Parts: sequence; structure tokens; C-alpha cells
Amino acid sequence: MPKEAINQVAANQGAVSHQGVSQEVKVYKVWDTPTRLFHWINLGLVMVLIFIGMVMLFKGDIGISGLEAKIGLKKLHVWVGYLFAINLSVRLIWGVIGSHSARLSQLLPDLKGLSGYKAKLAKGESPQYLHHNPMGRLAIFAMMLLLVTIMVTGLVRAGTDIYYPPFGGAVSDYIAQPGVDGASIKPYDDTGVDAQKVAVLKPYKSLAGEVHVYSVYLLILMIVLHVAGVIVAEIKHQPGLVSAMISGNKPLSGPAEDEKH
Ligand code: HEM
Repeated sequence: MPKEAINQVAANQGAVSHQGVSQEVKVYKVWDTPTRLFHWINLGLVMVLIFIGMVMLFKGDIGISGLEAKIGLKKLHVWVGYLFAINLSVRLIWGVIGSHSARLSQLLPDLKGLSGYKAKLAKGESPQYLHHNPMGRLAIFAMMLLLVTIMVTGLVRAGTDIYYPPFGGAVSDYIAQPGVDGASIKPYDDTGVDAQKVAVLKPYKSLAGEVHVYSVYLLILMIVLHVAGVIVAEIKHQPGLVSAMISGNKPLSGPAEDEKH
């Protein structure tokens, strides 16, 4: 018996016709409120961060110039980045202490399940999943890894580039000349800065910046694949996937493959 069957929404039972065959649909509770909130807040913040990031990258082409504007964009990006980092950190903690469907174990790749899933699709069947199907799990695992990488490299870059928390205080103290208070050091200003120590930090700063931007490009690719996969699955195999991430109620027209014991 699926664990979430206890939470089955009895009122929403009915019959649907799929590929000419009438099937009984049962609606289950899935994706608790914190998980759904994380998903939509994360989507919004990632879109805003991609937008600000692209403005930063191509500011010359769109007529934005001057050091003040450059630093202002970075500060804005980092402030929104903090919201993104808080939302992601809460989700990771919730993945350890939250409900069954929020657990991080639900996001780990299921390679055995993947071959079974593909075999069923090849036979023209529409296997039903209470959580992610094995293909979705793969995409979500990759996106989570990329989000964490982007968060860590972004925070490192915020510290080394504009001396923002959580690492900025330590960075500015390190690069300050003897007798200079690290807190007095300004971004993109050499006053009071030890050039040799800046040179020591430079490779790490560059690496963090490159990993940050290439992870963003990979994330954009994964978002496109994820959305395409959801649309195909929603239309061809399991209607109600998208609304389940809004309402927390998921209709299944057969036994849940991921809850079989
Ligand atoms: C999914 C979330 C994020 C996306 C899509 C994103 C996107 C980008 C992009 C496209 C750039 C390149 C701009 C450039 O190099 O001129 C960039 C740079 C930067 N990001 Fe992010 N970012 C994200 C999260 C974060 C976070 C969480 C932080 C820190 C709180 C952060 C801090 C920075 C900083 C400081 C730079 C400037 C690097 C530099 O110009 O040297 N980012 N980001």
C-alpha cells in the first residue's frame, strides 16, 4: 500500500479515458507546502538572477557603463542571490527533516527504475508515479547539484569581488595592507590593498567566477529539458503533474510505480 494512500483525497476519484481505455483515477497528497513553496520561489528567483546576470554580462552591449553601475548591478545580484541561497538552504534542510515526498532521497537518480520506465514507455504503457518519474529524477538531481554549485561559487565570488558576506570580511582583512582596517577597503579600489595578496587570491576568484557562469549555462539547458519533459509526460502519460506542484494533489490512473514494495 503506498504510504501516501493514507492521504488519498477520496472526494476526487473518477474515471478518465486514456488511449481509449477507461481508467479509474485516484488523487493522492504529494509535495508538502514547504516543497511547493520552494519550487515556485526558486523558479522566480532563478529567473530574476539569470536576468540580472545577463545584464551584467552584456551591459556594454545595452549601453550600461561606469564603475558605479557595474558595482550596483553586482550588489543587486548578490542581494537577490541571498534570497535564493536562503530558499535553497531551507529546502536542503527540509529534505532531511521534512515529509516522505520532500526527502532528498526522492531526488537521487534511480537507474534501475529508469530502465524499467523506458521499457514500459517503449511498450506504449503509461507508468504512473507518485513522485518524480526516473527521468524527472535525473533532471532534478542535476539541477539541484547545479543550484548548490551556483550558490557556493556565487557566495565565494561575492566575498572576493565586492567583499560581501559571508566571506567578504575575511577576504578584505586578508588583502588589507599592514595597519589598514579591512572594513575600509572598497570594491574595485586599490587603496590600502596588498597587491601580492590580491594576486594570491586571483586564481581562486577566477575559478569561482568561471564555474559560476558555466553552471548557469548548464542550468538553463537543464531547465529547458525539465520543462520539455514535464510537458511531454503531462500530455502523454500522467495528466496533472503541473497542478500537483501547485495544489499538492496528484491524480494517478494506476498503481504508483515508485511506491510498490
Ligand atoms: C541560480 C542562481 C544564479 C544565477 C542564474 C546567476 C547568474 C549569474 C551570471 C549569469 C553571472 C555572470 C555575470 C558576470 O560575470 O558579469 C553571475 C555573476 C555573479 N554572481 Fe550569480 N547567479 C546566481 C546566484 C548567485 C548567488 C547565490 C550569488 C551570491 C549571493 C551570486 C553572486 C554573483 C556574483 C558576485 C557575480 C559577479 C561575478 C563577477 O562579475 O565577477 N550569484 N551570476
